[in-house]
Amino acid sequence: MSSSSQASQQVPGSEFKEKLPLRDGFSTRLGVILATLGSAVGLGNIWKFPTLTGSSGGAVFIIIYIISVLLIGIPVMVSELAIGRSARANAVDSMRASTPNKAPWWLIGALGILSAFLIMGFYTEVAGWVFAYIFKAMSGSILSTSSEVTTAAFTSLVTNPVLSLVWQWVDLVIVGAVILFGVSKGIERVTKTLIPVLLVLLIVVAIRSLTLPGAGEGLEFLFKPDLSKVTASTLLAGVGLAFFKLSIGMGAMITYGSYFRQDQNISGTALRVAFSDMSIALLAGVAIFPAVFAYGFQPDAGPSLVFLTIPSVFASMPAGNFFMVIFFILTFIASIGAQVSLLEVLVSYVNEHLKLNRKAATIYSVLGLAVFGSLAALSSSLLSNVKLFGLTFFDLFDFTSSNIFLPVGGLFICIFVGWVWGKEKFFAAMTNNGTLNNKGFVSFLFFLIRFVSPVLVLLVLLNGLGVFS
Ligand code: PFF
Repeated sequence: MSSSSQASQQVPGSEFKEKLPLRDGFSTRLGVILATLGSAVGLGNIWKFPTLTGSSGGAVFIIIYIISVLLIGIPVMVSELAIGRSARANAVDSMRASTPNKAPWWLIGALGILSAFLIMGFYTEVAGWVFAYIFKAMSGSILSTSSEVTTAAFTSLVTNPVLSLVWQWVDLVIVGAVILFGVSKGIERVTKTLIPVLLVLLIVVAIRSLTLPGAGEGLEFLFKPDLSKVTASTLLAGVGLAFFKLSIGMGAMITYGSYFRQDQNISGTALRVAFSDMSIALLAGVAIFPAVFAYGFQPDAGPSLVFLTIPSVFASMPAGNFFMVIFFILTFIASIGAQVSLLEVLVSYVNEHLKLNRKAATIYSVLGLAVFGSLAALSSSLLSNVKLFGLTFFDLFDFTSSNIFLPVGGLFICIFVGWVWGKEKFFAAMTNNGTLNNKGFVSFLFFLIRFVSPVLVLLVLLNGLGVFS
């Protein structure tokens, strides 16, 4: 047993008396926060948030997203973390162990496994693009303010089936390697150092973007809401983004919660993570949209948006190529923090439930994802004409995970914690068995979990799926 895993089990101040299983875990309280933040911060901030904001009408969408984080995201996140830390097992077994009777609540964990496949399917592809862009940036070939040049560079990458697959698989091998090092030495160490550097670089890009001529239009787009843009699908997309951003509704936070120290303040951690993550997303918006308008790109360009505008921003600043290389390296690293948490959902399940050792569990999970993910990787080339419900595999995985599976998972987590697990267990977990003085806030959270969040998720889901129209 490593010293870090000892630390996670014999925590000073722990009031939990049960005999804890021997498991690896996060070693320091700051490490817990940063690893959890590492799961939240990723391509969601730098790629998905701008993509969706651009295609869903700007400021109004951002407001929906922020309200969703506050009223739904934080309650679901603390619920998952509390369950995971109490049960100390993978998502499926944690749900099973927390269920007082034989009811099949473990299905929430199983749904999480499915969501992990769907998300990793397209996420690894976008991460592969980012990785490829590190080398494109190094070669100097994309440093241009001309939309033709940056568009051609992106198109030549995504429409090439071999390149798409190779970059995706390279990405998967890197994520698998981090996971092989384990929780404290792999996940915790990698995420701890890099987020601050990413933040500094984003601030630099934001300043440059804001000082471009014509930046004002981008700011208006970001911060001046046009209420006529609220539709059933923007509502659903905003809620979906909150789920995706906070890595909730699919057992990732149950899994990470299972590695939490017993003296960790769960609600404090969730609040810090949620606010930091939201700030980083907004910062990415400020870095990208002024430039979108300044260079005459379309804000609703979709998944290519970031890959077109970012090179243009860098092209217009001194030492731009150097900074662009760093930017893509850091974005890639940020995506690793998120991907390890997605992969960890699968690996911890295969490892603990199917009883394969961690190495075998990682290899099989990565292989499974490489096969499944190729459907998304080939969506702009060989499989571009294969569509289900009018969507390519890439878009289908993205849409169904964020807009259906994660909200459904979150809905059931709330119902489970609010009505089945119950107040007593929730309070014990959230107050660290009465050692934290946060009863008022915990009561408020429990109220949200029991009554507010599930009703909101249900209404938005049904509305988004067209039930009321
Ligand atoms: N939160 C990550 C991001 O915004 O990039 C994506 C993600 C990670 C979603 C882990 C779900 C998850 F379980």
